[in-house]
Amino acid sequence: MNIAVLASGNGSNFQAIARYIKENNIGAEIKLLISDVESAYVRKRARDYSVPDVFINPKEYENREGFNNKILNVLKENDIDLVLLAGFMRVLCPFFVAEYKNRMLNIHPALLPSFKGENAIKDAYDYGVKVTGVTVHFVDEKVDHGPIVLQEAVFVDKEDDLESLENKIHKTEHRLYPEAVRLLVEGKLEVKGRKVFVTD
Ligand code: GRF
Repeated sequence: MNIAVLASGNGSNFQAIARYIKENNIGAEIKLLISDVESAYVRKRARDYSVPDVFINPKEYENREGFNNKILNVLKENDIDLVLLAGFMRVLCPFFVAEYKNRMLNIHPALLPSFKGENAIKDAYDYGVKVTGVTVHFVDEKVDHGPIVLQEAVFVDKEDDLESLENKIHKTEHRLYPEAVRLLVEGKLEVKGRKVFVTD
């Protein structure tokens, strides 16, 4: 299976997945990294793993549809089967989502449906929750909304500040996302409506 990762930033999840795939024979390969940010650190990480990286500049397209079309064409040219969003900070168009229905995952640093959006860790911390966590879900037309593949709780301890909570969340992400990718690649996920049945 050919995988493409879409990412805009640091790329620690990209790296966790790349390392997992390198160390475990799961019958998949990261063929491509696509980024919408020229200076994104994830692009360096891709080079370190010898993954070809493509920068697609949204400013070069008249609208969101044009930008999405370009990404879709690059995915098709590279025979991409699965798409992984890993800190990709743009909302994809419905036609894009439809093309990769049940073949595109996202990771979110909170227990959905709580704390959707860009600042989920801080929002949960500021709210004073005692339990937050990580969600890996299929992507549908709505943001942070699709059927949930895996979730894991992360406890907010008395000693935690925002930084230590972020570290705990990221550590959990780096375990959970590769696991979800393995399940998807191995055909162990069955989607029925909003529910994902894992047969591992
Ligand atoms: C992660 O916290 C992920 O849950 C969110 O964006 C962040 C990306 O981090 N969607 P990184 O770029 O993988 O380090």
